[in-house]
Amino acid sequence: MKIHTTRSLRATKIQKGSSPLQMLTCYDFQTAQLLDETDIDLLLVGDSLGNVILGYETTVEVSLEEMIVFSSAVKRGAKNKFVVADLPFGTYSTFESGIENATKLFQRSKAEAIKLEGASEHQLKLIKRLTETGVPVMGHIGLTPQSVHELGGYYVHGKDEKSQEKLLQEAIALEKAGAFCVVLECVKEELSKKISESISIPTIGIGSGDFTDGQVLVTNDLLHMGKQDPPKFCQPVANFYELKKTAIEKYIEKNKNINPYNDGKSLNH
Ligand code: KIV
Repeated sequence: MKIHTTRSLRATKIQKGSSPLQMLTCYDFQTAQLLDETDIDLLLVGDSLGNVILGYETTVEVSLEEMIVFSSAVKRGAKNKFVVADLPFGTYSTFESGIENATKLFQRSKAEAIKLEGASEHQLKLIKRLTETGVPVMGHIGLTPQSVHELGGYYVHGKDEKSQEKLLQEAIALEKAGAFCVVLECVKEELSKKISESISIPTIGIGSGDFTDGQVLVTNDLLHMGKQDPPKFCQPVANFYELKKTAIEKYIEKNKNINPYNDGKSLNH
């Protein structure tokens, strides 16, 4: 089982005969222990936990304290994995707050890296300083859910020439600023291919086609753990929602006729 570092990750570009990097989200200790025993390359404590674990409408509601609690639980369970923790909305709006909060998340969670969304001048300056001070940063462009209100919804990016050029330049700038890897979320497949071929750090795609250096999915979507259907680009490998529901219903049914006053038995005995 390979234990990744920023050095090994920086050097991972997909080529003929090699397999893509695989990243899955993880939010809790027990799942982290399980994933620690697999060949998964990286774990992401995504702020998607706001949607799938905490039931928030958007990731905008996720706080730094919540990210610290969940990321440190994951790191306690996944001692042998490269763990990336998401820097949540509003914690890096200024240069100073970004440095302070990213350092706090990195230090308290013991994750190997942090991820932040966007590649404007502000984010690039922040990434440069963070990497200079020893905090590895994963970039994230395309659909950046923390900006959902500014973007006007969740949709595929890179459809016209102007946005294609903008995304390509952002990826190049992220590499230059020091990011060791970049997530491309909901980016047109031809464009994610072009970006992946144009930069020397790995790209990790989600809903961005097959031609990235790696792929990431939300584990809860992959295992269909929620009531709602996962997004179209994710083919679930199981239906844990139904499995858990059936198992719990069976348990309830079995215990319906148990009453310690009738036969001396109680639940769970
Ligand atoms: O929060 C998250 O899970 C993410 C992935 C979708 C890349 O950022």
